[in-house]
Formats: sequence, structure tokens, C-alpha cells
Amino acid sequence: MMTPRETVEALDRYIVGQDTAKRAVAIALRNRYRRSRLKEELREEITPKNILMVGPTGVGKTEIARRLAKLVDAPLVKVEATKFTEVGYVGRDVDSMIRDLVEVSIRLCKDRKAFAVRTVAEAAAEQRLVDLLLPSQQKKPGPITNPLQLLLGGPQQAPEPEPTEEEKAKHMGERERLLQALRAGALENEMVEVEVEQQTGNNAMVAMGLDINLNEMMGGILPAKKKKRRVNVTEARRILLQDETEKRIDMDEVTREAIEKAEQDGIIFIDEIDKIAGGQHSNGIDVSREGVQRDILPIVEGCTVNTKYGPVKTDYILFIAAGAFHVSKVNDLIPELQGRFPIRVELKALAVEDYERILTQPEHAITEQYAALLEVDNIVLSFADSAISAIARYAYSANESGENIGARRLHTIVENLLEDISFNAGGDHPLIQVEVDETYVKEHISRDYGGEDLQKFIL
Ligand SMILES: Nc1ncnc2c1ncn2[C@@H]1O[C@H](COP(=O)(O)OP(=O)(O)OP(=O)(O)O)[C@@H](O)[C@H]1O
Ligand SMILES: [Mg+2]
Repeated sequence: MMTPRETVEALDRYIVGQDTAKRAVAIALRNRYRRSRLKEELREEITPKNILMVGPTGVGKTEIARRLAKLVDAPLVKVEATKFTEVGYVGRDVDSMIRDLVEVSIRLCKDRKAFAVRTVAEAAAEQRLVDLLLPSQQKKPGPITNPLQLLLGGPQQAPEPEPTEEEKAKHMGERERLLQALRAGALENEMVEVEVEQQTGNNAMVAMGLDINLNEMMGGILPAKKKKRRVNVTEARRILLQDETEKRIDMDEVTREAIEKAEQDGIIFIDEIDKIAGGQHSNGIDVSREGVQRDILPIVEGCTVNTKYGPVKTDYILFIAAGAFHVSKVNDLIPELQGRFPIRVELKALAVEDYERILTQPEHAITEQYAALLEVDNIVLSFADSAISAIARYAYSANESGENIGARRLHTIVENLLEDISFNAGGDHPLIQVEVDETYVKEHISRDYGGEDLQKFIL
């Protein structure tokens, strides 16, 4: 479990600045761990302090959530407030965020269990693969293990004579040879026939917001449909491994753990919450927005939501909401909902230096991305410091004079800047070194946008 400092450091690798938000998130995460170490009666009393992130567009709110999701070993879902509709209307109801969280938690717990049985499952899958690869004449009807089968007539042929020692040895040798070839990756394109279970999921129902699996509701009385498919070894290995893994995982246990984990460690990130804030001017749309806010209330406050895996208590789930709030204000949210997000953090608008850092510093920064893309086509791209600083200054002034779209502006500028290189590179030429310097940036910007007229940058 990471300390708050470590969490912030990890986020620093991807997100420039916004320390207050990073710290708040890091503390909230650590508090979950702290709470888990307490005596039960005290633990029951402590509910998470939900966070509301407020800041202009494109300054890293969603990015923090995205990175956090990869960082934490807890079920986390990111939902958009605008996707929900009030109960009673067609669309996704707010309860679906809890159902999604449980799904994520199930996957997490299942993956962990799968990892634990991986070696055994892999070995079993490999053996089955060898069986499938063995030439068919060696496949004899298996021994009758079920006495009932004898009564019912059993296999039609007379029982085969016991294989001689020689035959057995030959058979073993053959298996061994196949196994070696398989491990060496020499058989990947061989075709074999495997049985696969047919997907019975009903997408239409999920789309309607009813994610109840009818078969599961009826306790799985419908037998799973099986179908034979001819696939190559690579695909067969994947199918068999999945099958062997699933055999070894106790789904009841996974479900129990997953619900517990969702309840205790779950994090729900509600993005674009400002878009459901009503504002004064009450019209038809606002009414339904307020309805969504009211629906969200009990979930944030703590209630029990029914999911197909069982009831889930939302009392200890951590909610992080984010919104730009440039049209509506935080005060436009209904007061009850505001009250449920006691921790407010402001994300700051980005400055020139921030843009410079965003261009180069984060892991897989924009400049690095373009260099990697163009390298595929024999272009070795580099950016001079002067160019970085010029792009940052342009981004800043374009944001100042036009719509402020934050760091997203950088993507537009860099894309435009490299447009002709991107278009002309075809990989059919020797390595070409291209250094983007200040002159290059200035020339392109004045050429593409007519002098210093930055208004043209407006999307
Ligand atoms: N502080 C930052 N450090 C690094 N990259 C950033 C930062 N802020 C924004 N970005 C980049 O800008 C893009 C948009 O950021 P993000 O999605 O976080 O915006 P947002 O704050 O959620 O805006 P909105 O209110 O419009 O949803 C992302 O691709 C992200 O990589
Ligand atoms: Mg966002």
C-alpha cells in the first residue's frame, strides 16, 4: 500500500503540477488503508471524505483519475454524470455505477485468483493441446470410468487390447516430441479443433440498462451451449488456458470477495458533474438534471444497491467528482449533494512553464509520442528546447486569446506543426534527422496561420 507521498510521486510521472488535487487524492487513498486497520466498531463509524475537483478544461482532472485507476489496487470506475438519466426515464440509472464497480471488482478478484493458479492451468492446457495435436489414429475411446456407461451399452467397439510396452513407449515418445515442438513455438500455425462455450450474453438488454443475466437468474439451468471450432494453436492455447483457469476458480468465493472489496475499497470517479448542475434558469432539461442529482444523493450518502452478484452497500465507497464549472457554479448543485463532497480542491489553469513541462516531462509525453510514431517511417525527430518553449508560449497565448482548452491545445499545435512531415514520411527513404527548432515553429505557425494571428488557433 502506497504512502501519500509515494502516490503523489507516481502521479507526478504523468501529470504536471496540480499538487493540491494530487495530495487530496493521495490522502484519501491512504485513509482507506488506515481505516482498514482499525477495530470494527470504529471502522464502521468512519466514512470516506469525498472529493470535488474543480478546475478549468484540460488541466488534468480526468487525467488524474485515469492515472489513479492504473495505480491503485482497488476497484475503480470512472463514470460521466451526463450519461445518467433520472429513474423512470429511458437510459442508464445511477445505480449502474455501482453495478459497474462490482463488475470491475469481480474482474480484479478473478484475475488475482487466475494468477495464483496460472502455472497449473498452463500445464493442463498444454497437455490438452498435445492431446489435440496427436494424430487421430492414436485417439482411442477412453476407458469406461462410469459404470452406468456399461449398463447403457458403453462404446460400441470391443475393448481394445491393452497397448504393449512398445506401443506405450512410442506413444510417450510422440507426446514428448510434440511437447518440445510446442514449447519451441514450432506448431503455432497448426490447426486443431476445440470446443468453445458460446456467448449467451444479451447485448440488447445491457443497452437497455438491464444487465441481468437471465440464465444466472435461473441458477444456470440452461446448459451452456458448446460449439466446435477449428483454430490455430495460438488461439487454442488461449481458449484452453481460459477453460483450465476457470475450472480452478471458485466463483462463489470470487463473488464474496469482490463485493467486500467493492464496498470497502471501491472508488467511483464522477466526471463532468458540473454538467448536471442546474443553474437558475429552470427549464425542462434542468429538471431532469436535478433528478439525476437527487438520484445520486443516496448512493453517495450510503445505501444498498442490488446487483446481479448480490446487494452492495455504498457507505464506504470513495467518490471523487470533477467538473470545470465554468458555466454553472458549484453552488448550482443541490445543497445536499454539495454537502456530500466535503473536500474541495481547485486545479489551476496552466502557465507557460506547465505547457513546456507537459510537452516533454511526463512519461510518454506528446513530443515522445510523435517521435516514436515517425520513427516507424524512418524519421528521427527531435525538438530543440527553443522549440518547446515557443510551442508552449503559442499554446498559452492561443488559450488566452481564444477559448481556453488547456493542455489539449498542445495536441492541436504539435499535430499541425508536424503535418507535412507526417504526410510526406513514407518509410521508403533512408533515415532522415529532423530537428524542430524555434525557427521551424515560427515559420510554420506564421505560414499555417497567417502571421502571428493566433485567433486561427481556435478550434
Ligand atoms: N497537468 C497536466 N499534466 C500533464 N498532462 C495534462 C495536464 N493537464 C492536462 N493534460 C493533458 O491534457 C489532456 C486533457 O486533460 P484532461 O482530460 O485531464 O482534462 P480535464 O481537466 O478533465 O478537462 P475537462 O473539464 O474538459 O474534462 C490530457 O490528454 C492530458 O494528458
Ligand atoms: Mg475531463
